[in-house]
Amino acid sequence: MALPPALAAALTTAISGLPARDLTAAAKGLSARYREQRGSFLRGAADVTAYAAFRLPATYAATMAALSQVRAAEPDLRPTSLLDLGAGPGTGAWAACAVWPEIQHITFIERDPHMLALGKELAAAAPSFALRDATWRPTDITGDWQVEPADLVIAAYTLGELPPEQQPGFPEKLWRHALQTGVIIEPGTPQGWRVVEEASRALATLGAHIVAPAPIAWDCLAGRDDWLHFAARVARTRLHRSVKGADLSYEDEKFSYVAGSRLPAQQIAARVIRRPQIRSGHIRLTVCTPEGVREIVVTRTHREAFRRAKDLRWGDAIGPEEAEVFGLPSTSDQTGSDPRHRRD
Ligand SMILES: C[S@@+](CC[C@H](N)C(=O)[O-])C[C@H]1O[C@@H](n2cnc3c(N)ncnc32)[C@H](O)[C@@H]1O
Repeated sequence: MALPPALAAALTTAISGLPARDLTAAAKGLSARYREQRGSFLRGAADVTAYAAFRLPATYAATMAALSQVRAAEPDLRPTSLLDLGAGPGTGAWAACAVWPEIQHITFIERDPHMLALGKELAAAAPSFALRDATWRPTDITGDWQVEPADLVIAAYTLGELPPEQQPGFPEKLWRHALQTGVIIEPGTPQGWRVVEEASRALATLGAHIVAPAPIAWDCLAGRDDWLHFAARVARTRLHRSVKGADLSYEDEKFSYVAGSRLPAQQIAARVIRRPQIRSGHIRLTVCTPEGVREIVVTRTHREAFRRAKDLRWGDAIGPEEAEVFGLPSTSDQTGSDPRHRRD
């Protein structure tokens, strides 16, 4: 997945302000602290530039992929306002505007002044009026804050950065500001998934319909030593390769996410939770279903299923109308909300 040309160009300009040696040193420090995944890893202006150079393309790709899944899960969602919590350089809003060009009003909440400055600089180059005209609020989201609610609220790679004691209260703050849908995205690691899983339960308890990646009632990983995650392919820049000592021209950014909505979920029969294994005579799919994880092997002899399986990507949903083709149970109750909050 490539960055929008305007963002890529603005990023190149922003990065060019820092000498290559300083950028590489800052990126290496960031990378090490990011792997530790504990607390804030930004320590000044150089870190912010390195974050933009080194992490922004990956968080953009992951956010695009997650929001694209949300759009497919919630086709009636047509957000005109967006709130981006822990916005960093505004990455999430760039992705949201690509997924929903109808977004007209954006509010960014970010506590780091260097991030705010960089975000404003990048947004000034955006073709989208909403990005250029966005409101930037220098605010600490762990404090007591209140802004105008928005149709869509996103928090990408933010929740896991908050101090552990602040994390349980965050879904409520996000949900309170969501007129329609709230999306939380975290790294696709066991720890990132644990954060997302906790947040999913909290959102469902608040009355949200969990519209993606799967209804909360499925709990498809129960009893498994596994975590629900997806991946977005990102082109590696020269900086990436030198920092990571890697030769490959791309990497897969793994992410976990949850989307909670005030509207009921679009029904699904399953979601593909691993990259499909395509072999000459068969395709192996690993899917999350209401009855747990299922491995489906589709052979060429099942022509209809094989044709469909060839198009399926990691993260795609299988609709109820396709359940039979894949030998999946047809699902009945798919509201995705916490059973304690259903009216039936
Ligand atoms: C990993 S970055 C993610 C940025 C952006 N959402 C993205 O996907 O690229 C996390 C951001 O959250 C911000 N952040 C962390 N704790 C915060 C807090 N308590 N209040 C506001 N922003 C916070 C950090 O300054 C940083 O910009």
